[in-house]
Amino acid sequence: MMPMTPSEAKNIVVLGVQWGDEGKGKIIDVLSEEVDVLVRYQGGNNAGHTVIAKGEEFVFHLIPSGLLRPGRVGLLGNGVVIDPAVLIEEMQLLEARGINTVDAVKISDQAHVIFPYHKRLDLAREASGDRRIGTTGRGIGPCYMDKVARMGIRIGDLIQPEALAEGLKQNLKEKNRVLETSYGEKPINFDELFAEYSEYAKVLAPHVVNGSLLLREAMDANKKILFEGAQGTMLDIDFGTYPYVTSSNATAGGACIGSGVPPTAIDCVIGVLKAYTTRVGEGPFPTEFSEGMMEEIRTRGNEFGATTGRPRRCGWFDAVIAKHSVWLNGCNSVAVTKLDVLDGLESVDICVGYRLGNETITHFPSDLKTLNACQPIYETMPGWQGATSDASCLEELPPEAQTYLKRLEQLIGIPVSLISTGSAREQSFKTACW
Ligand code: IMP
Repeated sequence: MMPMTPSEAKNIVVLGVQWGDEGKGKIIDVLSEEVDVLVRYQGGNNAGHTVIAKGEEFVFHLIPSGLLRPGRVGLLGNGVVIDPAVLIEEMQLLEARGINTVDAVKISDQAHVIFPYHKRLDLAREASGDRRIGTTGRGIGPCYMDKVARMGIRIGDLIQPEALAEGLKQNLKEKNRVLETSYGEKPINFDELFAEYSEYAKVLAPHVVNGSLLLREAMDANKKILFEGAQGTMLDIDFGTYPYVTSSNATAGGACIGSGVPPTAIDCVIGVLKAYTTRVGEGPFPTEFSEGMMEEIRTRGNEFGATTGRPRRCGWFDAVIAKHSVWLNGCNSVAVTKLDVLDGLESVDICVGYRLGNETITHFPSDLKTLNACQPIYETMPGWQGATSDASCLEELPPEAQTYLKRLEQLIGIPVSLISTGSAREQSFKTACW
């Protein structure tokens, strides 16, 4: 029998059901109060999870954001791609602010390592203008390409000097050829690269573990585990708006593949969604605002990337996307964030379907050509005038905001279990179905 609520469940996945930046960091922070082990299972430092705790802001790129709470263990699973320099810097910054990473951070020996050639190839390809995706330029795609091409260097290799040297020698032959001939760039020097990464290896070695085994033992010991998704469902390499996606499986299935636990171990999935929609980078976005509204919501919601600082594109809530994601991920409930950003609007639109020629569809098309031909169909709801940010329960929200949330629940078919109305830890409350 599958437990339905986050408080009953043992192994919970929290993930974004839009295009990322849904405010997962904050929800994870709230949840991590009850959790022992936190796991990142895909993506890399393309992610930026912001948590505001006791008035201080923390931005996490690789380390699970739940580690803000003392005594927790945070695992970077095999599905994550790791830039060692970024990870070490993040650990040092957290240590300097009193957060223990020495004993808390664990890294799967099967996670892949990002090297400078990955970043250079990512940036060079984007700059060439061919098939521009609007990536974060962190080398994420090229690193996953090497993983799938079976030429990646894993954390377990990084900490073994012979394996690192051999892997780098082989890879540099090909990478330098591409950098020089395709992009007219300088080659990368083996000795310098080997020396730099050998230093990183010394720092990271004490953190390296068999990730799947760590989780198995945690489950045997009846620990509560939280799997933190990065990016969002619509950026999933298979089910997102391909090719305008990231290079990993950001959907719930990715939690198993990217950490080494069986699907039957997951007993609760919480989808996180904004009360409206945003995306960064290129690609389709059916409910995108036009100029005036774009600026207004971007400013109110401070919609600038936590990793790259890029302005996010903003639009109305798209129930077609949300419903698609809720099904794909098997979400039990959703957490709605940034409701306060819509405060004071005269009316609020929700996209309830797409017009495709003479047809109305309510499923998300699986190909881009069809999606590009779709026009959103909106339902207009009355806005609310009071502030939502001081509410501590559903009943304290303005009646129109309650109606808006009820309508979202109806459209996506599952309940809202948590509502966030501001960036502070305290500005959120659980509903009866938590
Ligand atoms: P990449 O992950 O850097 O390869 O970028 C691929 C696409 O995913 C681009 O459109 C990025 O803007 C987007 N993306 C990657 N990570 C995030 C994230 O954490 N939040 C939102 N968008 C992201």
